[in-house]
Amino acid sequence: MARLLVTGGAGYIGAHTMVELLAAGHNVICLDNFSNSVPEAVARVQQIAGRAVTLAIGDVRDDALLRRLLAEHPIDAVIHFAALKAVGESVARPLDYYDNNVYGTLVLLRAMAAAGVKRIVFSSSATVYGAPEQLPLTEGAPVRTTNPYGASKAMVEQMLRDLCAADPEWSAVSLRYFNPIGAHASGRIGEDPRDTPNNLFPYVTQVAVGKRERLSIWGNDWPTPDGTGVRDYLHVVDLAAGHLRAVDYSAAHQGFMPINLGTGRGTSVLELVRAFESATGIAIPHSFAPRRPGDIAACWADPSLAARLLGWRAERSVEQACADGWRWQQHNPEGYRAGK
Ligand code: NAD
Ligand code: WQD
Repeated sequence: MARLLVTGGAGYIGAHTMVELLAAGHNVICLDNFSNSVPEAVARVQQIAGRAVTLAIGDVRDDALLRRLLAEHPIDAVIHFAALKAVGESVARPLDYYDNNVYGTLVLLRAMAAAGVKRIVFSSSATVYGAPEQLPLTEGAPVRTTNPYGASKAMVEQMLRDLCAADPEWSAVSLRYFNPIGAHASGRIGEDPRDTPNNLFPYVTQVAVGKRERLSIWGNDWPTPDGTGVRDYLHVVDLAAGHLRAVDYSAAHQGFMPINLGTGRGTSVLELVRAFESATGIAIPHSFAPRRPGDIAACWADPSLAARLLGWRAERSVEQACADGWRWQQHNPEGYRAGK
């Protein structure tokens, strides 16, 4: 069993991953500054798993804290979720994104190197591919980012590639997530956006619970079968399981390895709305609006490298993700903040 430092573990994907790590018997130290999450998420992770997490409240940019944590705990590997993630905000405040996401990772890597911890699983994103030339997207597709958020992910990948080239003892698995949705089947943890959701799925669940009146579908004139945007939505618990496999893989393989985590299937906005309606029995009022600037028509993964290297495949359907995401939203209409 490994002892893992999980940065950003209180966030949406981090919390689901910590549940899977604890269930598999790993020991978890969570470092989070709660800039986009709350301690209640960690409390619920522990309730679900029936095991404790060691919580360190602080920032990945705090060099002294990182060095202390890595000196005090014999860490085997780091899973690095901590980052800012809103595309629009990154265009408005690019320096905050380079500071948090790029500089934060630099501080972390330096502290890891000083402590002799040379295994990292990094949260990258399909956004590094920009507008795809060919679908499905393989890891060999060019990295061409279109906004500072995406650029920050590509820059970190470059740092990891260079570090692995300089020191063959390093192992860096960069997981390029497609579109994570849904929640843990217990309905106790889930996505908890602070403001109006930018992403489709949390917007849909907020319409369902009555917090928003209707969904605006950004464009019905895309070159896709029904004219709405197509994405590769994967259940967040499948995504969490992918991290478990990546941690194991990194124990046995050195070097830099980018790996797509997606289902390999594209789902349009209208198909997702229909799947939600049929999984929950709740109608989602919607209307069409102009395309969102910066959007792409379609994007889905070739997940065969993950299957080959990690033995990982997404197992849960979009309908399952809708049912699970709705359970979370229905029982927690105000997210974690109601403090139940
Ligand atoms: P999230 O905002 O829910 O989680 C990020 C966590 O990191 C939060 O708990 C936040 O408080 C913490 N954090 C942020 N900056 C920090 C810092 N400097 N020091 C310590 N903690 C800090 O986001 P998420 O959806 O769980 O995403 C996790 C990771 O996955 C991010 O790196 C994100 O870029 C990446 N990602 C997310 C998606 C998605 O659609 N959700 C898709 C692709 C990649
Ligand atoms: C999905 C589809 C929209 C909201 C973004 C980031 C990306 C990644 C995930 C982290 C699109 C449509 C959406 C709405 C809509 N994050 N939509 N009405 O655009 O694939 O990616 O989040 O790395 O970096 O760019 O996901 O959920 O925003 O949109 O019609 O209110 O839903 O146009 O077709 P996207 P999304």
